Amino acid sequence: MIDVLANAATALQQARHIVVFSGAGISAESGIPTFRDQLTGLWARHDPQLLETAKAFRKNPALVWGWYLWRRQQVLQAQPNAAHRAIVRLADSGRQVTVITQNIDDLHERAGSQGVVHLHGSLMTPKCFACHRAAALNSVEQSISEEGAVVEPPRCSHCNGRLRPGVVWFGEDLPTEAWKAAVQAARHCDVMLSIGTSGVVMPAASLPDLALAAGAFVIHINPIDVCMDEPKEMMLIGDAGHVLPALLERALAI
Ligand code: APR
Repeated sequence: MIDVLANAATALQQARHIVVFSGAGISAESGIPTFRDQLTGLWARHDPQLLETAKAFRKNPALVWGWYLWRRQQVLQAQPNAAHRAIVRLADSGRQVTVITQNIDDLHERAGSQGVVHLHGSLMTPKCFACHRAAALNSVEQSISEEGAVVEPPRCSHCNGRLRPGVVWFGEDLPTEAWKAAVQAARHCDVMLSIGTSGVVMPAASLPDLALAAGAFVIHINPIDVCMDEPKEMMLIGDAGHVLPALLERALAI
């Protein structure tokens, strides 16, 4: 019986540059629903085409804005979990750690991670739908009661356009600098920890392949098997909040 945890620990011990590539699953234990989990996933009860596209925003800006206010409120009420905190300990161990996330929450930053690369934007950076200028966060003081509430978006102080959430909607390009930094890191890391992602949304989902192609180890952490069984791939089955601290304990006694 191959001891995958031991092999993963050895790879981590010998790594100088580690990339952490995270998805919604890393925030699940903080109470933030993922997208595609059959029962609990957001897409199980909402149609992303009605909430996560520019077309949807043009058609019903108040519905889309209300949806993001609700998600932002959930994030503001959530706390980083043991997995977010373990990543900070890994960075404090003296190894170079690059955190690349698909998540639009700020739990990595609130745990203490520096220079987090947000591939899909952030709930904390609203901008104008018309002139694209960033809007001050305090321009979004609205709070909402329940999921599905409809709230008219505030107006841009420059052009009076409607404000939109600073996230990447389906059909939109990823932020150029963030994508460039992610590809660079994936190509130069020794180990990629791919945590809590279903690996279905491109181009982000191609990062583990890029790391493998560059000769790195890819260690997946997920309650379900998302591994493609490439030679340098390892699958650690379980919740990130349990598996990642156990891996760091085994690898680095931290
Ligand atoms: N620990 C680790 N992984 C978990 C946990 C947990 N506690 N709970 C669930 N998971 C796993 C699920 O098994 C699933 O494979 O996290 C993954 C979440 O997958 P998705 O919901 O598809 O989220 P993600 O991969 O981040 O989605 C990518 O899709 O909807 C868009 O823009 C959105 O950034 C998002 C992108």
